[in-house]
Amino acid sequence: MVHFDLEKRFLHGGDYNPDQWLDYPEILNEDIEMMQEANVNTVTVGVFSWWALEPSEGEFTFEWLDRIFDDVHKFGGNVILATPSGGRPQWLSQKYPEVNRTNSLGQKHTQGFRHNHCYSSPIYREKVRIINQKLAERYGNHPALLMWHISNEYSGECYCDYCKENWQQWLKKKYGELEEVNKAWLMSFWGNKYTDWSQVLPPSPLGEHKVHGMDLDWKRFNTDMTINFYLNEIKPIRQITPDVPVTTNFMAEGHEQHDFIPLEGIDYGKFAKYVDIVSWDSYPDWNNNYESIAETAMKSAYVHDQYWSLKQKPFLVMESTPSEVNGHQFNKSKRPGMHMLSSMQQIAHGSDSTLYFQWRQSRGNSEKFHGAVVGHDNSRENRVFKEVSEYGSRLEKISEIKGATKDSKVAIIFDWDSNWALKRGGGFGRPTRQYPQTLQEHYSVFWENDIAVDIITSEQEFDQYDLLIAPMLYLMDEKTISKLSNYVSSGGTLLSSYFTGIVNETDLVNIGGWPSELQEIFGISLKELDTLYPDEFNSLKFQGKQYQIKDYSGIIDVTQAEVMGTYQAEFYKNTPAVVKNSFGSGQAYYLAARTNRDFLKDFYKPIIEKLYLANSLINEPKFEVSVQTRIKEGVSYYFLMNFSTDTQEVVLNKTVVDIESSEIIEGKILLNSYEVRVLKE
Ligand code: GLA
Ligand code: ZN
Repeated sequence: MVHFDLEKRFLHGGDYNPDQWLDYPEILNEDIEMMQEANVNTVTVGVFSWWALEPSEGEFTFEWLDRIFDDVHKFGGNVILATPSGGRPQWLSQKYPEVNRTNSLGQKHTQGFRHNHCYSSPIYREKVRIINQKLAERYGNHPALLMWHISNEYSGECYCDYCKENWQQWLKKKYGELEEVNKAWLMSFWGNKYTDWSQVLPPSPLGEHKVHGMDLDWKRFNTDMTINFYLNEIKPIRQITPDVPVTTNFMAEGHEQHDFIPLEGIDYGKFAKYVDIVSWDSYPDWNNNYESIAETAMKSAYVHDQYWSLKQKPFLVMESTPSEVNGHQFNKSKRPGMHMLSSMQQIAHGSDSTLYFQWRQSRGNSEKFHGAVVGHDNSRENRVFKEVSEYGSRLEKISEIKGATKDSKVAIIFDWDSNWALKRGGGFGRPTRQYPQTLQEHYSVFWENDIAVDIITSEQEFDQYDLLIAPMLYLMDEKTISKLSNYVSSGGTLLSSYFTGIVNETDLVNIGGWPSELQEIFGISLKELDTLYPDEFNSLKFQGKQYQIKDYSGIIDVTQAEVMGTYQAEFYKNTPAVVKNSFGSGQAYYLAARTNRDFLKDFYKPIIEKLYLANSLINEPKFEVSVQTRIKEGVSYYFLMNFSTDTQEVVLNKTVVDIESSEIIEGKILLNSYEVRVLKE
């Protein structure tokens, strides 16, 4: 077995489904040959292979997989072995229908598609444990085994009786007494107070679905259930292969709205504590028709940085596509050169891999047109195959960077609870809450300036950051409030905004309005929050310039803070819209209104200067060119990436070496369309 930490290469390869090709031995032979030609060193196998590993209950057929392990090992490759719980065999559902999920209307699923099992079912858990144990026993000592890939893209919820029972147990553990549930969820509203635990059902459109605290707890419960199921999966794996790291692939979402943000359904901040390495599946809409390439790159960078920050350690891109995707409304091919650029961006932001879904394109069903290294033409001459192979050979040349870390002085807080609560709550503008999207707007200023940013949860440490950005932190517990207070009073710079600190952990509005600790940090009190329709605007005057305000204007009173900007219209004309407060030895800024990016850029400029956050490598950062830094053993590695089709000139402040060509570079450097240069100091 190779030890992951000793693996000196970036991982390059991806999901391999030989189980779809068992009737075509010539294809399987060719795969192994072609992998070497494509400079692939890692394959993920077994993701949906349960049917082929255990064709009937208790009958195991590993021979086909033995062969894959051996063949991959022969050419020096690694195997990431998946546990197959993402898709179960027919016999399992037929004999034990309880393993199928029940929806919120109480309808039981039948066998089909994938990712739809019950997390509570004792039989499913036991069957998963058995197959995982068999896999660990069989391959635990195989020299090609690099890592475990647990299940696939965990998601979804189940409402069966087992899950109901677990839900009630979870609540008992959290609240102790039923009366505490009634209080935490304010069940006196509409008079649905519980008098017996058995009345506390999961939320359902046919029953209770209007209690916000309940919804929030249901989301938390589902995160815990998913983690609990995962912990059951890894039990035999930890016993048999304690040194082999485990991961599970996280996701991003939002394509239909042209967004690209981490998946909202599971609290990955919590989940990340239980995996050895964070990994995720990255499918941005490259070369789309609704935004610039650099804009797509910024969004993709944001998600990478968020997954980096969960452990502040290198992560893996477990899936990405070498060409087009299949599941969006429009699935465009990446333009020539985009594969190189978009994949290098993964490495630049802290990934130690570029893995694909998938190695070989499937012939049928849902994903038959999803891009793959080997297309339906089975050709080594096509553009995609060649670009993948070229990328693999470049990765080999920069392998000294593998394992390198990052150093950020700026952090943005993203809080899953706040996001769930903001999405659920009534009032204000329902479609304009846009919490992660708003964080991305703040992020974009730093991305444009090539300043590294971590995106952390409120549970993580704040002290290592010079600037902490926490807009719209809607739900706050006392711990977070006191962490923020300590952070600022001991010298930190904090920014927050409208929609911050409004509710407690169960989504109940704070009695008496805004918590007094927050009033002290920001030196203000809150009066009202005005909602604007999408075609309504206000404006704000800041340092002599006017900026548009959209969606939200918070009306505030200044108690201590210094006014930096004021509203220009409405009944709150001339009242403060942006303020700054000295608190202890730090500074706290409050943006009462939502602005566009132009304001954020001008607003952050002096803060960036004052805190010496500017990128030290380049002189005049621009949006189209991204510079990201990874650090290893005191050496800084710079990725210069041109996210535009124009040639871009960059002026360097330092003398650097191109690690691929050994060329020494000083001063000006020209980047061609989509070009990436990897330099070191
Ligand atoms: C996800 C899944 C894969 C595949 C790809 C492509 O990331 O994990 O199995 O479905 O999407 O759509
Ligand atoms: Zn269930």
